[in-house]
Amino acid sequence: MKIAFICSEAVPYAKTGGLADVAGSLPKALEQLGCEVKLFIPKYYSIEESEFGLHYNWEIGEIPIKIYNHTRYAHVYQSILPGSSVEVNFIDCPHYFHRDQIYTDGFDEDERFILFCRGVIEALQRLKWSPDVIHCNDWQTGLIPLYLKENYAWDILFKSTATIFTIHNIGYQGRFSRNTVKNALIKEKLFYPESPIEYQGDFSFMKTAIMFSDVINTVSKTYAKEILTSEFGCGMETVLMQRKDHLYGILNGVDYSEWDPEIDKFLPSHYSLNNHEGKAKNKQYLLNKFGLKFNNDVPIIGIVSRMVSQKGFDLVEDASKDLMKLNAQWIILGSGEDRYEEMFRNLHLSYPDKVAVYIGFNNELSHLVEAGVDMFLMPSLYEPCGLNQIYSLKYGTVPIVRKIGGLADTVYDWFECKLNGNETGTGFTFYNYDFKALLETVKKAINTFADKKTWGKIQTNGMKENFSWQTSAGKYLELYNDIVKKKKL
Ligand code: ADP
Ligand code: GLC
Repeated sequence: MKIAFICSEAVPYAKTGGLADVAGSLPKALEQLGCEVKLFIPKYYSIEESEFGLHYNWEIGEIPIKIYNHTRYAHVYQSILPGSSVEVNFIDCPHYFHRDQIYTDGFDEDERFILFCRGVIEALQRLKWSPDVIHCNDWQTGLIPLYLKENYAWDILFKSTATIFTIHNIGYQGRFSRNTVKNALIKEKLFYPESPIEYQGDFSFMKTAIMFSDVINTVSKTYAKEILTSEFGCGMETVLMQRKDHLYGILNGVDYSEWDPEIDKFLPSHYSLNNHEGKAKNKQYLLNKFGLKFNNDVPIIGIVSRMVSQKGFDLVEDASKDLMKLNAQWIILGSGEDRYEEMFRNLHLSYPDKVAVYIGFNNELSHLVEAGVDMFLMPSLYEPCGLNQIYSLKYGTVPIVRKIGGLADTVYDWFECKLNGNETGTGFTFYNYDFKALLETVKKAINTFADKKTWGKIQTNGMKENFSWQTSAGKYLELYNDIVKKKKL
């Protein structure tokens, strides 16, 4: 099975969130299941050729791509995804991708990803590589299924290529004015009210992808159900309802070669299910780093996150005064919207002995926080899958989460399990998007922390869980086989 995996970010090259973790690990897992995989991402300015062993592909050379009436030129660099034989193809176009950030709110954000989508198809043609499946991820790749059915329908290279579109986050839809239809060289007659590419008068890359892909999936079973409702669908629920029979939920996996406290290269002390000792040393190291006092009886609550409204920080803000009365310390790592960065900075200024904050993106620190804190808070407003709570489980860091989306599928509430007569809980959950619910749940977690035996049991339950990619990649492979078979009928 030949898979072209298309994404706007991938570990280790470029990352803003969990999407990059998935794109850096699912292709490897698919390869281990016998697939031949090529990964395609844009070549951003920050991707150092020497650091990642990129080579310019001279055979492909210059690829002219028209964006409305301008011709831009794309090039292809190649490398191998570390720890695998997956070929990575970097679509290079300095005009669009040599910017300070991966995503911008510039006037030409549409053009950047039109070029990427067209660049991928043109590169496949020049590589003369006919994929069985093109696997697109999020809106930045959303035009590819349409292009294959329209602009490139003439090319027999793609005659039996099936497409799958994975929704990692329906909150970001790639919505642009109707002028973008022209920029994308898509027939204007495809754009009319309620057409498969039109959404509320705009051109929507997300809707286009949903309507033109052979199948659609998202990254947990619960989120797959939620996005069919107006509460979580962000307006796409009616579009998805039309394709309900082609919508699946496949939970993300974890790359345990990166995220395992027994081998994590960023930790001062390693530890494992059978030997927790190193965890306390990491806690000490982390507190020391932030100038906070160590007390084994006081839990640290950690947050590592993009600071955006999706992550539920409004609840933290509303509960903050009460949360600060509790006997806990906080270590927060993240960056994003000013209002949340400001809120956390102010918490640190008001409670310097309790709250440490690092505003920025720091991969090494994110590993250290996972290992050094006792609890991990994710009160998300919505969460397609969420990876940090899954990392937390492996690190013996007990998650406190809102029971929605992927969080509901990966964390089991200790008390709920107890009520059902078993001790299989791995964390603490609440459902209502309400600061009191959050506060009560944090209180319960802190009280339980004082009971070392119970706490140890919850930690052990979590550390025993296995969310490796093997299972999830197997489900993707089943789905690929299914759509390829249907395509050939
Ligand atoms: P999302 O993709 O919505 O941001 P996930 O939980 O799926 O949420 O994945 C987030 C990923 O990004 C995790 O690997 C997490 O460690 C990482 N991350 C988020 N913020 C930061 C940060 N400030 N520094 C380092 N890593 C971060
Ligand atoms: C998105 C979601 C997150 C998910 C990640 C990877 O960014 O917000 O829940 O884990 O994609 O699929």
